[in-house]
Amino acid sequence: MLRLDRVLANARVGSRSEVKKLVKEKRVKVNGILAKSSDMRVDENNDKILVDDILIKYEKYVYFMLNKPQGYISATEGKNCPTVLDLIHEDYRGMFPCGRLDKDTEGLLLITNDGPLAHELLSPKKHVEKEYYVEHTLPLADQDVQRIQTGIVYNGVTYKPAVYKKISDTSCHLVIQEGKYHEIKFIMNAVGDKVVYLKRIRMKNLVLDESLKPGEYRPLTADELEDLKLIAR
Ligand code: URA
Repeated sequence: MLRLDRVLANARVGSRSEVKKLVKEKRVKVNGILAKSSDMRVDENNDKILVDDILIKYEKYVYFMLNKPQGYISATEGKNCPTVLDLIHEDYRGMFPCGRLDKDTEGLLLITNDGPLAHELLSPKKHVEKEYYVEHTLPLADQDVQRIQTGIVYNGVTYKPAVYKKISDTSCHLVIQEGKYHEIKFIMNAVGDKVVYLKRIRMKNLVLDESLKPGEYRPLTADELEDLKLIAR
């Protein structure tokens, strides 16, 4: 049994306060009877919940695309530091970031409560591509690019080949399939360069929606989700 407002929020009907308003306006019915309050308990799988006479299907899992801003850590709890979950409305408790971006990295981060899907996407066996927009301090020589593209050992850690797409002398896209700690920064350090700005723009088929300002998020579309699930299997 779950709270009615939780079920409606998961089904993207509205936030907790919006759902409260709907109930007050007598627009929500549970098993044919007008809902009395938004915190009433409902059987999410069996009760017939209607909003404006439209049947609501319970969604166990929620998926958001977040444009992570700098200054937030990719964790569910932070001691003295805001976490990416602080950016998500409190109605969506129990969610977590799928993977990690450094505190000073921006861009695409999937926020979900779907543990099995996150596990698949993060599994090294799945080789899920991650594409980054990188700004760096020095132009790269041809042999540096070659090293990046054939794989690099740095501080005893092996980084698999990355795909390099030049944008300018000091900016590029890099595509990696692993998710090692500081991977892009360390790859650039390995060739004597330094990352000054980093933004993830893609995870497999999921491309950052550039209309999202840093700190904003939106639910994945049905197509985005379907593709992501196909790929993860
Ligand atoms: N590589 C990094 O160095 N940092 C990130 O946040 C992601 C990839």
